[in-house]
Amino acid sequence: MSEIFSTYDEGESFFPDAYASERWCEREKSRLFKKKWLMVGREEDVRNDGDFFCLDVLAESIFITNSDNNIRAFYNVCPHRGMKLREGHGNSASVVCPFHGWVFSNNGEIFSHPGVRDGEEGFDNCLLGLKKVHCEVTGGFVWINFSQDPGSLKDQIGSLEEDVLTPFDTGGLTCYKVEESFLQANWKLYLEVGMENLHIPFVHRGSIGKQSLSRLKTSGEWQCLEMEDAETASLPRNIKAGLRNIESLDRKVTRFCLVYPNLFIVATIDSVWWAQTWPVSPETCVVKFGFCVPKSSFERDDFDEIIKPYECHWSQVISEDEAIIQRHQKGVKKASSVFYTRYEKEVEKFHGWLRSAFVEP
Ligand code: FES
Ligand SMILES: [Fe+2]
Repeated sequence: MSEIFSTYDEGESFFPDAYASERWCEREKSRLFKKKWLMVGREEDVRNDGDFFCLDVLAESIFITNSDNNIRAFYNVCPHRGMKLREGHGNSASVVCPFHGWVFSNNGEIFSHPGVRDGEEGFDNCLLGLKKVHCEVTGGFVWINFSQDPGSLKDQIGSLEEDVLTPFDTGGLTCYKVEESFLQANWKLYLEVGMENLHIPFVHRGSIGKQSLSRLKTSGEWQCLEMEDAETASLPRNIKAGLRNIESLDRKVTRFCLVYPNLFIVATIDSVWWAQTWPVSPETCVVKFGFCVPKSSFERDDFDEIIKPYECHWSQVISEDEAIIQRHQKGVKKASSVFYTRYEKEVEKFHGWLRSAFVEP
């Protein structure tokens, strides 16, 4: 295995172990997921003082909370005996540990510690409060970084802000629904299939058909295919759009984005949706989906009717990809070699980024 890692370091791109080996997956978690900024949810879910939501990914448990209009992230673990502090989502003025009732403020400071006096042996550590995770907000998305001393989010996402988050007004849209799937597939396969056009007329022949895409030049750690089209990509051709177009968009364009390491975003003229994949094991992952629409459409009385054909389209396209990648998983881990046509250049580009991030010291 170590020989494989060093060959990978030297520039080869395909290894079946990348889809099946425990060690490979652990290395991805430590070198990619624990170092990069990761999108973890929406600012609107922690809009009010005291709002919080929890997240269990990569064998970590964290929670995001709004403390006096600052969005912060903490490990969801009590500094006393390691109790899991919170579950789900909600609103609370403080964090009360369910084990011994110690109380922490929403900015992580210890507030009260019934049963233990200040100065008791071993207690100093608890006085440091909850352990922070770096957290930033941009484009209506909350991002975290597990490393001690991360680079800036701005540097990492580069032109994503000016090419996607700002023109599609992702901060102003309403995320009206999130859902998740547990898949028997390596986390990379969903992202790979999202960025290639060759499977579309075949796997999605009834739902999408043919698409003509070109590469958008990007800066930062993401890549993008775009499609000039006056129609939304969130509906089949023969269905009339019911959502309002995104007002800030000055060009009729759809952008398919892979934001490294694990976020696939489709931004189209009347909606934005994403699929984010989290490794569970080398051959399983959780994919979290979110769907955003213009606020003015969401607030209409007939929104439930308007959104029906969109939901029908999204769920068909998503289930077609989920089926194909779970079958891909069964073969790709046994393949001795593969090749990419010119229509799959984006998959190779993703592998190039993985390789460079994988070998960073
Ligand atoms: S484990 Fe939290 S107060 Fe004891
Ligand atoms: Fe697809």
